[in-house]
Amino acid sequence: MAREAETHADIPFGPEDTPWQKTFSGLRVVGGRPYGTPPSSDPREAYIAVPEVPHHKVQLPPTGLDANQYTEAEALFRSHIDTQTRNFAGYQVTSALDYEGRLGHYLNRHLNNVGDPYQSSSYTLNSKVLERAVLDYFASLWHAKWPHDPKDPESYWGYVLTMGSSEGNLYGLWNARDYLSGRPLRTDPRQPGRETAAGQTPRDAGAHAFHPVAFFSEDTHYSLTKAVRALDIDTFHALGSTRYPDDNPLAPGTPWPRQVPSTEHGAIDVEQLAVLVRFFASRGHPILVSLNHGSTFKGAYDDVEAVARTVRGICAQYGLDSRRVRGESGGPEERSGFWVHVDGALGAGYTPYLEMARDVGMVQQAPPAFDFRLPDVHSLTMSGHKWMGTPWACGVFMTRTGLQMAPPGASEYIGAADTTFAGSRNGFSALLMWDYLARHSYDDLVRLAARCDDLAAYTHTRLLALQERLGRDLWVARSPQSLTVRFRQPRADIVRRYSLSGETVHADGAARAYVHLYAMRHLTRQRVDELIGELRQPGAFPRSP
Ligand SMILES: Cc1ncc(COP(=O)(O)O)c(C=O)c1O
Repeated sequence: MAREAETHADIPFGPEDTPWQKTFSGLRVVGGRPYGTPPSSDPREAYIAVPEVPHHKVQLPPTGLDANQYTEAEALFRSHIDTQTRNFAGYQVTSALDYEGRLGHYLNRHLNNVGDPYQSSSYTLNSKVLERAVLDYFASLWHAKWPHDPKDPESYWGYVLTMGSSEGNLYGLWNARDYLSGRPLRTDPRQPGRETAAGQTPRDAGAHAFHPVAFFSEDTHYSLTKAVRALDIDTFHALGSTRYPDDNPLAPGTPWPRQVPSTEHGAIDVEQLAVLVRFFASRGHPILVSLNHGSTFKGAYDDVEAVARTVRGICAQYGLDSRRVRGESGGPEERSGFWVHVDGALGAGYTPYLEMARDVGMVQQAPPAFDFRLPDVHSLTMSGHKWMGTPWACGVFMTRTGLQMAPPGASEYIGAADTTFAGSRNGFSALLMWDYLARHSYDDLVRLAARCDDLAAYTHTRLLALQERLGRDLWVARSPQSLTVRFRQPRADIVRRYSLSGETVHADGAARAYVHLYAMRHLTRQRVDELIGELRQPGAFPRSP
């Protein structure tokens, strides 16, 4: 180990290619040896190169960088990010931001919304007063009962996420798991929760009554797969494959699908979902369904209303629509035996305005309802950095107060219940969302939604025309009312220039390498035309992707 360390201590390091061990000054040398471990190989070769930002320029020697080195390194990084920002077209993230002038001040302020948003804590450097305003805004937009009232189970409860919808999905599924497993709900919001006890099973409950099964479509974001793994929730695939290997009800004798099949446009196939749900509901399992309101790649909208109606109908046949669970006090408590979570990472931020645009005749159509208008929607999440646009990941999680699981106990230290996923929470995110919503009226956002919808339609039309002109199937497609248009993957340098996101899609029995483009508000017709111009050039689409 020691010899290995000596071998690599001379690796050129930092902007001046200084041998690594020479980057230490006297104070950082202990017993004649540098304080830290030397590199075990050359990091410049170990990591992916970013040609515009050579690794050695940004390496961090123990001396730090001097003023010139810092200026050069930061300029390289800035120029790279600014170029990529200008062309960024492949993800459902808004890259045109203008917070700096108004909010730069807060970069030198610490804002931490630790603990429940509705409880003030001894931790006064927080932005919870703005967080509550943001949450009320979305509660109204999503037709929930507001303001939050801890004594009213029908009122909403939510919080601003420190991660994006990945956290919202994780938290939603955690809440769903505890609810469907018969664990205690949050009865007294002023008290820290009791430690959650598993198995609040009434004596007459069936063997699977508190063993939930999760369902989501093949177009679902990978954060759901991660969430069920982290939370140890069985999916229908896991349970079906292990307990009922030959009984796949969609095609008996064949392997269970990993996820619920989708339609060609990417929405969950409600009929096939119903077959799968019935299989497990009839065996007494509570049902957890996660739906997409704007799926990641195709931008598809699951029919939340149809799914909720179908799931409720099936559950009613097996006594799972409403059932008695032993409550925290030991007495009976009424709960549904199913949970519908809506992943509205992009869509929940955008389609309410599109719906308003449709209602005043600015656009033809809007996606189906997905929000708390539907009594069987239990939880909902949205990312802040997607439609609205923020410099980092953030978002909103929302549920009904009466469905909230009991938080863990012992949060006296912060003076507020520990009801959120993270302990420390990013207080700057609530400020950014508040700033954006304060400066954009519904009217502004309705116009913006209509403009983005129009740009997606324009992009779709231009790509179809290109396909026609090239005489080659570019697989151009746009799911209804989606902001994304997908097509055949072009050459690697074009993919990188526009940050086009890629995915393999199985169609007609073949694996196809697709990319997609998202018509977010920073994208312009001019940028789309530039991309089309590049795609028109010979060699833009390799022969066999
Ligand atoms: C449908 C969907 N859900 C969840 C996520 C994850 O969201 P975040 O990146 O905000 O964690 C995404 C991200 O693209 C998404 O498209």
